[in-house]
Amino acid sequence: MEKSYSKIYRILHWAIALSFFFLLSTIFLRLTWMNKEHMADIIEKYLSQNGQVLSQDQLIVLAKQIRQPMWNWHIYTGYVLVGLFGLRFLLPFFGEMPIQNPLSNELTTKERFQKWIYVIFYACVVISLVTGLLIEFGPEGWEAISEEIHVLSIYYLVAFIVIHLSGVLLAEFTKQKGIVSRIVSGKKNMKE
Ligand code: HEM
Repeated sequence: MEKSYSKIYRILHWAIALSFFFLLSTIFLRLTWMNKEHMADIIEKYLSQNGQVLSQDQLIVLAKQIRQPMWNWHIYTGYVLVGLFGLRFLLPFFGEMPIQNPLSNELTTKERFQKWIYVIFYACVVISLVTGLLIEFGPEGWEAISEEIHVLSIYYLVAFIVIHLSGVLLAEFTKQKGIVSRIVSGKKNMKE
């Protein structure tokens, strides 16, 4: 059956997708070009050419300060996602974007699998958002454990994106031709 996606579904989907792509780029930068050890090495090399020396701790403090403005955007995007997911969970109460229910009786194995993937993804996102908020606003004693859990987010996020995009492309090229254009522009001749 051809599914159609309402305007609010599509706006929310793309706002969530873009926010995650943006978050991924900040994580990518933090792990690569803006890695603190890497930047500390650059500063150390430059200073030593000029006959100056800083301790490793001072170099890391400087590197972190350079990285901070970029990383602030990771945190802002996290707040945006808290809002978007808050909205996503409120919408079913207004008859929009029902929560996918993998326990429903009338599902094929494939549909059940798809729905479980979304439910697991949502549960993991909630954990990431809560641990992110705890790092920023939680009691100091909780910071280390929250951070340890929070950094694991990258694994489910990348796994979900790979499964999701493969699933969508597979659907597009097999039984649900046009699914990609429907999630972009809705269904043709639909008022929404
Ligand atoms: C080019 C990229 C993408 C395309 C073409 C795409 C396409 C789609 C389509 C067609 C659906 C509806 C599937 C269905 O009817 O079961 C969907 C749902 C969904 N997508 Fe994407 N997607 C993309 C990227 C992303 C990204 C990056 C994320 C988040 C990391 C994401 C998260 C979701 C979620 C959570 C749903 C389920 C929404 C719900 O019913 O609660 N998508 N996507």
